[in-house]
Amino acid sequence: MSRIRHEAPVSKEVIMLQGISIKNLSFSYDNDRLILKDINMEVYAGEFVCLLGQSGCGKSTFLRLLMGLETPTAGEILLNDQPIKGPSLDRGVVFQDYSLFPWMTAGDNIMLALQQRFPQRKKKELKQLAVDKLKDVGLDSSVYIKLPKELSGGMNQRCAIAQAFSMDPSILLMDEPFGALDAITRARLQDLVLELWSKQTSKKTVFFVTHDVDEAILLANRIVVLGQSPSTVIYEDHISEEKRPTRENQFKDPEVLRRRNELILQINNDVVSRIS
Ligand SMILES: Nc1ncnc2c1ncn2[C@@H]1O[C@H](COP(=O)(O)OP(=O)(O)O)[C@@H](O)[C@H]1O
Ligand SMILES: [Mg+2]
Repeated sequence: MSRIRHEAPVSKEVIMLQGISIKNLSFSYDNDRLILKDINMEVYAGEFVCLLGQSGCGKSTFLRLLMGLETPTAGEILLNDQPIKGPSLDRGVVFQDYSLFPWMTAGDNIMLALQQRFPQRKKKELKQLAVDKLKDVGLDSSVYIKLPKELSGGMNQRCAIAQAFSMDPSILLMDEPFGALDAITRARLQDLVLELWSKQTSKKTVFFVTHDVDEAILLANRIVVLGQSPSTVIYEDHISEEKRPTRENQFKDPEVLRRRNELILQINNDVVSRIS
């Protein structure tokens, strides 16, 4: 079965779209305590997947495995049928904090990523690309020379998103990127990520970690819920692009409310079964 659903990208520099196949994945940091247990999942190229689970259940660990920073204790993770061997420029990452080097300006942070990704291109050309990417995330060129500490949390995350998208990775890994932001900034950035993702001619596969049910409902084509440690997939919901909830109907549409209730119920059942 092919996991490639979209047309091949036009630019030679765009790496082929990639699906992720996770087979019987278990992971332990110290061979003592399993963090992830027997996880099976297919992520199709171009899908927006939200990984939902409580604090400490192993979501960041899961992303570290996808980044190639950890190796499965058992099972495997395949990208286009090849096991992950380590970090790669075809997987962009946005964290809640520390996505940017604090000693470098926003522009230099983006340039650093661009120069790694496109070493054959001229510096002047890349600088223009960095400015364009800042514009794409709603920031003007004055931000280019600002240090992260001179920018608000929301602006920092906009820069981190600009950096991740500027590298044109086929897979974007996001670890609670809006977890530290106020509700309005968070809503704006959720809309921004969806807009950037959906306007690509060849959509990136996004793996977005959150503990927020409503964030997952708004963003995902597929929601995967991890239970408590050792975590495994306790529930999955697939939302077709045509039925994607909007900010307007999110708390009104009976179908969206049913999905929301079911998600909360599944998480609650897991909690109850563990503490009783
Ligand atoms: N580097 C590490 N070494 C040992 N244990 C770790 C390490 N990182 C995380 N853990 C443990 O793994 C479990 C899952 O952590 P994490 O993946 O950060 O969860 P989440 O992101 O869902 O909050 C926690 O019990 C945490 O203490
Ligand atoms: Mg985490």
